[in-house]
Amino acid sequence: MDRLTLTQPDDWHLHVRDGAALATVVPHTSAQFARAIIMPNLKPPVTTAEQAMAYRDRILAAVPAAHAFEPLMTLYLTDRTPASEIAKAKAAGVVALKLYPAGATTNSDSGVTDLQHVRATLEAMQREGLLLLIHAEVTDPAVDVFDREAVFIERHLMGLRRDFPELKIVVEHITTKDAAQYVESADRFTAATLTAHHLLFNRNALFTGGLRPDYYCLPVLKREVHRLELLRVATSGNPRFFLGTDSAPHPSHLKAHALACAGCYTALSAMPLYAQAFEQAGALDRLEAFASFHGADFYGLPRNTGQLTLKREPWTLPQTLSFGDGQLTPLCAGDTLSWQVEH
Ligand code: NCD
Ligand code: ZN
Repeated sequence: MDRLTLTQPDDWHLHVRDGAALATVVPHTSAQFARAIIMPNLKPPVTTAEQAMAYRDRILAAVPAAHAFEPLMTLYLTDRTPASEIAKAKAAGVVALKLYPAGATTNSDSGVTDLQHVRATLEAMQREGLLLLIHAEVTDPAVDVFDREAVFIERHLMGLRRDFPELKIVVEHITTKDAAQYVESADRFTAATLTAHHLLFNRNALFTGGLRPDYYCLPVLKREVHRLELLRVATSGNPRFFLGTDSAPHPSHLKAHALACAGCYTALSAMPLYAQAFEQAGALDRLEAFASFHGADFYGLPRNTGQLTLKREPWTLPQTLSFGDGQLTPLCAGDTLSWQVEH
């Protein structure tokens, strides 16, 4: 098979930043995806419906005229998000709230310090049908960084699931067999997104030939046994696993830095990377449902009607891209992928 035509996919977890960065990254996504869930971890974070709508307009202004693209907006859940903001958010077209445990990752200082503080807001979301998107890692420094996802499931997710049984929850960018198996055995109100990089790489990638900050993201890459389990659930046809790139651009000088920022920039080559992962698993025929159907179905949104074609033709990724007044290094810069998008 040298060409693969799919219903146009959506990206259910994406960081596009703001300002001049939008001009670089939004067109990469809108060249492939019809919609994307836009993460709200700006500085300061997007916490109100009004801010989300203004941010949406700035994103739309960066979409090339030849592309049709719909940003799906989210709010950043804080200890102080009032329950009254949920109806406003719903009315404005916001689809979800993002839960970052305070301090878990890039720009998460305003995150939730204790789930007890947000119970009334979660009740309102359950009632209004807004989804809860979770960065599922504990921040307890006593917990090993490679175990923080598994421990979050035990300490927080199970209780949340029990207390809000009809709240739709997406466990974002899962990285472990523990999360894969938890979501697989949960009910229809629980789903997970999977990044291309966690399907393609294990933690050895961080240390091959030297310390490689391009591969550093949160949750951090895990052992091969976890990668294989992620690939298994992604290609299983189970509708509660779907595509979310977690493409998270940082300027090159802050990646190649003594305190390297967490985040992999994958939007440029997202669908070719997923095609590579699915092909390795002998499951290219399962890619369309994972990329184009399962997410829309879980969110209760219509499936796309357009198409995207990938062709098997070697494509060497650029070393750098211009990014505001700096540069951006895509994940796999200089590597040759076997698929590319047909334009
Ligand atoms: C994200 C970012 O840079 O905004 N980084 C990352 O490593 N994934 C934040 C996040 O989603 O955790
Ligand atoms: Zn993210």
